Amino acid sequence: MVDSLRLHDLRPGLLDGRIQGGAVARKDKVTFGDRPALPEHMLSLRAKIHQRVLQEMDAETLRSATRSGSDRDEVQRRAQQAMLATLTEDGIQVVPSLRNILLAEVMDELLGYGPIQPLLDDPAITEVVVNAPREVFAEKAGRLRRTDRMFNDNAHVLRIINKIVAPLGRRVDESSPMVDARLPDGSRVNIVVPPVALRGPAITIRKFSRIPFTVHDLIQKGTLTEPMATFLRACVEARLNMLISGGTGSGKTTTLNVLSSFIPDHERVVTIEDAAELQLHQEDLVALEARPGTVEGKCAVTIRDLVRNSLRMRPDRIVVGEVRGGESLDMLQAMNTGHDGSLSTIHANSPRDALARLETLTLMSGVDLPMRAITKQIASAIQVIVQQGRLQDGTRKVTHITEVHGMEGDTVLLQDIFVFEQTGVSPDGRVIGEHRPTGLRPRALARLEAAGIRLPPSLFLR
Ligand SMILES: Nc1ncnc2c1ncn2[C@@H]1O[C@H](COP(=O)(O)OP(=O)(O)OP(=O)(O)O)[C@@H](O)[C@H]1O
Ligand SMILES: [Mg+2]
Repeated sequence: MVDSLRLHDLRPGLLDGRIQGGAVARKDKVTFGDRPALPEHMLSLRAKIHQRVLQEMDAETLRSATRSGSDRDEVQRRAQQAMLATLTEDGIQVVPSLRNILLAEVMDELLGYGPIQPLLDDPAITEVVVNAPREVFAEKAGRLRRTDRMFNDNAHVLRIINKIVAPLGRRVDESSPMVDARLPDGSRVNIVVPPVALRGPAITIRKFSRIPFTVHDLIQKGTLTEPMATFLRACVEARLNMLISGGTGSGKTTTLNVLSSFIPDHERVVTIEDAAELQLHQEDLVALEARPGTVEGKCAVTIRDLVRNSLRMRPDRIVVGEVRGGESLDMLQAMNTGHDGSLSTIHANSPRDALARLETLTLMSGVDLPMRAITKQIASAIQVIVQQGRLQDGTRKVTHITEVHGMEGDTVLLQDIFVFEQTGVSPDGRVIGEHRPTGLRPRALARLEAAGIRLPPSLFLR
């Protein structure tokens, strides 16, 4: 069974308990995707075979196989040949199951994004993170765990990074060490390399879900309840301005997508994003995406530019993917001047924090307004804040639906309408708690009724 290497490659204990019929059993690392990863001591073999195929094969066949999937069989045949030749020359014997893994990983190198390809192919994985060549993590069902996938070294990680950014005409190096990019399927990629990344190049991929969550999915997952969804739908239909607030990866964009799906079909919607993630279905839709500039900052089109421009496009609604800069001023002004029903997200940990952050961002716009004036503008622009959280068990929940009730003195009045109340944690680590209405009658009901929407009062009773 232990027949994968020449004797001089065997260090004592190296194979102990690791290769069992080709499966890899490593403590604390999880196998994701449809096959286990190649054991660590075979990584150099993988690199060697990969190199050999590259030398023996013309680049054009490889490119067309990568692009279109045609010639894939040809590449596979060559990879198999190279593998067999290398194994024979080096006098290495490998059990068939392990050989299949080796071949599959060489194919991932040739046509995919190397060690992370199986993670990208697994639809249940939502996030892929590379911290270091041997530290590859993936998120499944809300839990980020270390996987068995491994790069050879930093140079290998860099090679895959270049594979990601080169088709986009971007580069990543010392002079531009942080880059946002996208995979062809729409997945969002962030890359940081040395000297900024101290432990070597790092990759973070937020996978794009082809089938976006619907409101029913969110209810079924316990992100919110049916009454909460009914209230939010009514708020969108009645054109309230709403802000979704939450931490990184808390599900803001997902919820924004769901709320946007409540926008009536006949309305003209302009979406503005840093990296297009929203998937709206309105017929009259203009989707705008900001563009990063060159290294010198030329040719950049910012979110703020797009918000300003969108006002000249006769939108019924503006949906801004995330406010994170000076565009907040323009957005607030738009909300206060008749572009009702606008939606956006913001990075903040509570509804009150969201308002504070909006103030800070508005100050960043370089406007010369007294603080109180800014606060006042915010208080009159935003009517509802949906606070989203990623709880300790990995689940995402709407933790507050909060109304903004204008100002009293210098403070903005906030009123929770629904909250999530955590009561404990189960022995297996799951959060226990429930969503409940606070029992207060939303002020928004007057606006809803004016728009012809009547909600049963029981929705808000404790
Ligand atoms: N309600 C939910 N239940 C379970 N998983 C969710 C939920 N909402 C989002 N997710 C998953 O969580 C991840 C992050 O979601 P999303 O992009 O919406 O978060 P975000 O807050 O916008 O993140 P960022 O701060 O990076 O912009 C995605 O992989 C998504 O599939
Ligand atoms: Mg987001």
